[in-house]
Amino acid sequence: MTAFDDHTAFARAATVLSENDRGSYTVPTKGLYPFQWNWDSCLTALGQRHIDEGRAWTEIETLAAHQWPDGMIPHIVFHVYDDGYFPGPDVWNTGRPTPTSGITQPPVMGFVLRRLYEEAKDKVLAEEKARALIGAADSWHRWFYAARDPQGTGLVAILHPWESGRDNSVDWDEALARVPTDGVEPYQRRDTSHVDPSQRPHKAEYDRYLWLVQRFRGLGWDNAKLHDASPFQVVDPGFNAILIRSDEDIAALGEAFGMTGLAAAARARAAKARAAFDRLWSEEHGQYLCLDRTTDTLIESRTVGGFLPLFAGLGTPERQRALAARIAEWRGRTRFGIASHDPADPRFEPKRYWRGPAWLIVNYLVADGLARCGLAEAADAVHEDSLRLIAGGFAEYYDPVTGEGLGGGNFTWTAAMVAELVRKRAKAA
Ligand code: GLC
Repeated sequence: MTAFDDHTAFARAATVLSENDRGSYTVPTKGLYPFQWNWDSCLTALGQRHIDEGRAWTEIETLAAHQWPDGMIPHIVFHVYDDGYFPGPDVWNTGRPTPTSGITQPPVMGFVLRRLYEEAKDKVLAEEKARALIGAADSWHRWFYAARDPQGTGLVAILHPWESGRDNSVDWDEALARVPTDGVEPYQRRDTSHVDPSQRPHKAEYDRYLWLVQRFRGLGWDNAKLHDASPFQVVDPGFNAILIRSDEDIAALGEAFGMTGLAAAARARAAKARAAFDRLWSEEHGQYLCLDRTTDTLIESRTVGGFLPLFAGLGTPERQRALAARIAEWRGRTRFGIASHDPADPRFEPKRYWRGPAWLIVNYLVADGLARCGLAEAADAVHEDSLRLIAGGFAEYYDPVTGEGLGGGNFTWTAAMVAELVRKRAKAA
């Protein structure tokens, strides 16, 4: 049973997308997040294309236009001033012509480019746009391996929890505890005036988030220095899987466009990363875990990030089936999947942001992975959960136990996923 009939669900999704549309980019939600976010925008394009393909391409073009000269695509672009968000452009102080943050986010762009291109109705437009944007994704990926894997291990580290997209996951607790808090400038949070504080990160975490920002700012945001200077260096299986998938997707596009050099380099990066990925598998926990690069140990935290390697088809068929079984087990413990943290773990908090709640975008990426690994039934079950959850509104995230919608309301990427899922279902019928 889904919440609405598909026609109504699609119409509501289209309304949310249009309410948050600022012309050439879309805000995640009014109030709480009034700028352009990196992976939000890319995933939003997946929904927008069902309404207007041209508009979907524009979303990505706008993001790519703010790529840094070194290749990084920042996690926030502050197009217009708004004091409803902290930390704003003055705190980041990155010196970019249009202010941006100084860190990045999960690189879903390559994956989205390929999907938009291959499934486009307007093939001429799609080829023109994809050809123009592939270089941005390629240089971003090269930046990752140069700046975030300086030892050439094959896997990249995130230097700030916000880069993961899973801001306050239990995955970061241990590494974050080692980040000092001395010298953090006084600040006033804005998130807790938009959303109930019990659904947001704690102050102790926020202080450390800001310490890292100040540290990097003190180094002039020079990415040649940041990695080694950061006390927080975590290799996230979810993040790396997304990068591998996007590299393979731009390789496929490059091959289709006769860009053989670009394609071969992307394949080589992905192959090296695949070979290194085994390091993140935990036999004991039956899933992938984060690696703390500063201590070279796996982090004892079972989260949905450990299922995302499916998105890149990583692991043996046996491991993929083990992950599907684990997802089914978690779904069995809650009413709606997929919880962002293992519901059997005492640290599970069903309402606190990335420490328990279910997120439709993650469901989408994991389900895409299950399907590509030949686990179609498991994928369908996750999609069904997503469509059942919208009975709680088009929320930022959901309590997986009760289904209650939480965080920001009328949320763009949730709406985009609904548009995508409804169209997918129509195609399959
Ligand atoms: C939060 C989320 C992040 C998202 C952003 C905007 O910071 O954790 O993944 O990109 O909000 O929606």
